[in-house]
Amino acid sequence: MSVPVSTSGGTPYGTIPPASPLPRRKPISLPRLNQMREAGEKISMITAYDATYAAIADAAGVECILVGDSLGMVCQGLHSTVGVSLDAMAYHTECVARGLHRAQGIAWLISDLPYGSYSASPEQAIHSATRLMQAGAHMVKLEGGGWTAPVVQFLVERGVPVCAHLGLTPQTVHALGGYRVQGRDAVAAAALHEQALELQDAGASMLVLEMVPAELSRKLTQALQRCHTIGIGAGSGTAGQVLVMHDMLGVNLGNNARFVRDFLKDAGSVRGAIEAYVRAVKEGKFPDDALHAW
Ligand code: KIV
Repeated sequence: MSVPVSTSGGTPYGTIPPASPLPRRKPISLPRLNQMREAGEKISMITAYDATYAAIADAAGVECILVGDSLGMVCQGLHSTVGVSLDAMAYHTECVARGLHRAQGIAWLISDLPYGSYSASPEQAIHSATRLMQAGAHMVKLEGGGWTAPVVQFLVERGVPVCAHLGLTPQTVHALGGYRVQGRDAVAAAALHEQALELQDAGASMLVLEMVPAELSRKLTQALQRCHTIGIGAGSGTAGQVLVMHDMLGVNLGNNARFVRDFLKDAGSVRGAIEAYVRAVKEGKFPDDALHAW
């Protein structure tokens, strides 16, 4: 029996996406992200969970790829991210890292520390972060403020770049009482502001702000000069934007949140959709505050 052979040099089951027609970009690093911020260029981020989609996103020009624990919902069919294990995160991080190596390998790869993998002690956190860094991550992300600042400092001092995550923190959805907008009243906004500054002081170089009022995330972005804010449902005033890949392709199992746009509808291909998303973020056309701000 003969095995089908791909003419593109890949396997018969998946090929490397063609190189971008754009001039080859430099690999993304923390200094490069700082330069972008200084130049006023927005950062685009998207989630990916496997090699093929990671390679396509890399070729489409995103700066950052997040192996989000949202994989619990979109890949594993869970109801929340609480059930996602460190083994699962390491496995998907390895898959994505391989995809990036098969593409141009430009994007900065962030991987989520899952629920329960960093809350027991800083030692537990460095153990979990090491696992994800060895799987190919360039940075780890963890959720929450206050108690997390010493954990962030412990990781950063040991050479692990950290992205923090405030606002709606899905790992604590049960404590929050549901997927709701955070930081709406003055007291909650002030608490978020204080936590964000603490996380920056602890060494976090990125901060995801999820479902917070646009005005608050704009203020936080101005206040945080050493930490890039990345918004999701947080208006257009952040240093960058992130979307869950399945949501922006319109292939999720439920209804999209109000702030999500289906970029595949008009693009005709996955790569075209991601390119359109990157363009819209850079040109300030996504998100549209009139439609999405709280
Ligand atoms: O897990 C995830 O995909 C995330 C994004 C929603 C920011 O944390």
